[in-house]
Amino acid sequence: MHRSKTKSDGDVRRKKATGQAFPVRLVGQSTPTITQALILEHEILRQIFYQIERVLSRSQSARVVKSLALVVEGLLTNHAKIEINLAYSVLDHVLAERDASQGLYQDHEELDGHFAPIHRTSDPAKASSLLKKALTATREHFRREEQIVFPTLEEILRPETLWTLGDQWRRAISSS
Ligand SMILES: [Fe+2]
Ligand SMILES: [Fe+2]
Repeated sequence: MHRSKTKSDGDVRRKKATGQAFPVRLVGQSTPTITQALILEHEILRQIFYQIERVLSRSQSARVVKSLALVVEGLLTNHAKIEINLAYSVLDHVLAERDASQGLYQDHEELDGHFAPIHRTSDPAKASSLLKKALTATREHFRREEQIVFPTLEEILRPETLWTLGDQWRRAISSS
């Protein structure tokens, strides 16, 4: 989707970096920018995490906890795949030109490490505790992306590119 650069685009873009205009911007738009789309995915995932934590607040078997972990891992894998293809790879390319790309993917790798131990324990309480910690770590990861990674992306890419990547996001989720 190509849009001409207008004053209102610029205004929305500046507000979006502060996270204030995001929900309003989606109203009446068929396609969000890539950063709006990824923030929307974060919001949906946070709501799923909240519901899972409600389930975990009651005693559950290790098997149930592991099944819940697998659901979260599947959702996060899909989210990360799109995020890396449409946001991180673009950002990485630009930062590499500035010699500043180190550590961009490290956060995702560390996040994977939070979920793996859940599947190695047969203790229900320990599995539940590990899953809660993994959800907390994931929320922190989302916060870092929304406060650091996405605003950087909005700074370095033209609005047209953010919309084009958003259109690619729409196509990617439609075909998954
Ligand atoms: Fe991420
Ligand atoms: Fe993300």
